[in-house]
Amino acid sequence: FHVDWDLMTAEKAGFDHFMLKEIHEQPKAYRDTMLGRISDDGRSVALPELKITAEQLKEINRVHIVACGTALHAGLVGKNVIENLVRIPVETDVASEYRYRSPIITPDTLVIVVSQSGETADTLAALREAQRCGARVLAITNVVGSSVAREADDVIITLAGPEIAVASTKAYSSQLIAFFLFGLYWAQTIGTKDEAEVAHVLAAMQSLPEQVEKILAQAEVLKEVVESISHHSSLFFIGRGIDYAVAMEGSLKLKEISYIHSEAYAAGELKHGTLALIEEGTPVIALLTQEDLYEKMLSNIKETKARGADVLGIINEGHEAEVAKSVDRQFAIPRTLPLLTPALSVVPLQLLSYYASLALGHDVDKPRNLAKSVTVE
Ligand code: G6P
Repeated sequence: FHVDWDLMTAEKAGFDHFMLKEIHEQPKAYRDTMLGRISDDGRSVALPELKITAEQLKEINRVHIVACGTALHAGLVGKNVIENLVRIPVETDVASEYRYRSPIITPDTLVIVVSQSGETADTLAALREAQRCGARVLAITNVVGSSVAREADDVIITLAGPEIAVASTKAYSSQLIAFFLFGLYWAQTIGTKDEAEVAHVLAAMQSLPEQVEKILAQAEVLKEVVESISHHSSLFFIGRGIDYAVAMEGSLKLKEISYIHSEAYAAGELKHGTLALIEEGTPVIALLTQEDLYEKMLSNIKETKARGADVLGIINEGHEAEVAKSVDRQFAIPRTLPLLTPALSVVPLQLLSYYASLALGHDVDKPRNLAKSVTVE
């Protein structure tokens, strides 16, 4: 009797690739990142790891979110979350740009650095520059004891567990959970949201793991859709508001592992130039999860359809029949609050990239030219 196995296969827990395993670990990553940070009655957030006091939080009047790659895209969602919940202006910046443009940092600025590994050289350099200029730095990272975690003034650890695939999935989505928690904590501390409002968001957050499971159960649908993408050399992701932030992450994921060129566009901006690139059969992946921007999105989709685009809509459950008239294919995600949708809408985009990479025969977990952690500038 002989059993053939190696350590890497064993660690993939039955999945073909680490990326697929990590996509499937997201419900657990969400639960673990929320664990112990929501009060038993579900009405408030507790972040005892933060050293920043309520008084200091009240003094903050601007936020800079600085990161690289996928972590930066989590930061773009974080900007929406903080501005919505706390009503304080937030800027996001690429870490490799931030410290060379002499950013305006005052003592009332909170700089948030986001890094899965906590070792990215540009992010670490940005953290040091922010501290040198007198700002307080909060780190959102997945690695306890990493350089970023050690040097930041405050740290929120995401509990995604080790991420092996180069293309980040569960680390990104856990960073979203961290932003939701921090945004709510800040809002409850300074009173921009009352207890009932915080409880309302927390209840919706606690349903997210189950809702991701529901999406994962439909993964096969996306496997079929991938045909419409994988033979093209270029495609577009479009969205408005927070959907635009997720579109950027969807586009990066596809580029990283399938090597298909794609661009993410704010849907309303297409007509100012990029529409010229849409021709018969150009794939467009349109996110339309924001109810207040729904009609606007539909008209942007129409603009692309009129030029021959082949549109996949990522939509909210319940809109299937209505959207069917406007798109060629659709994938519905379960209903949640508009602000929380990125934690769900990113999942089909991760799966699409995965299946596209697979269909094209690429090395999903180790894409060419890329490293999991970039410790050089
Ligand atoms: C590398 C990885 C990306 C990652 C980025 C930032 O480029 O390939 O997936 O998003 O670094 O990494 P960090 O560890 O700082 O989140």
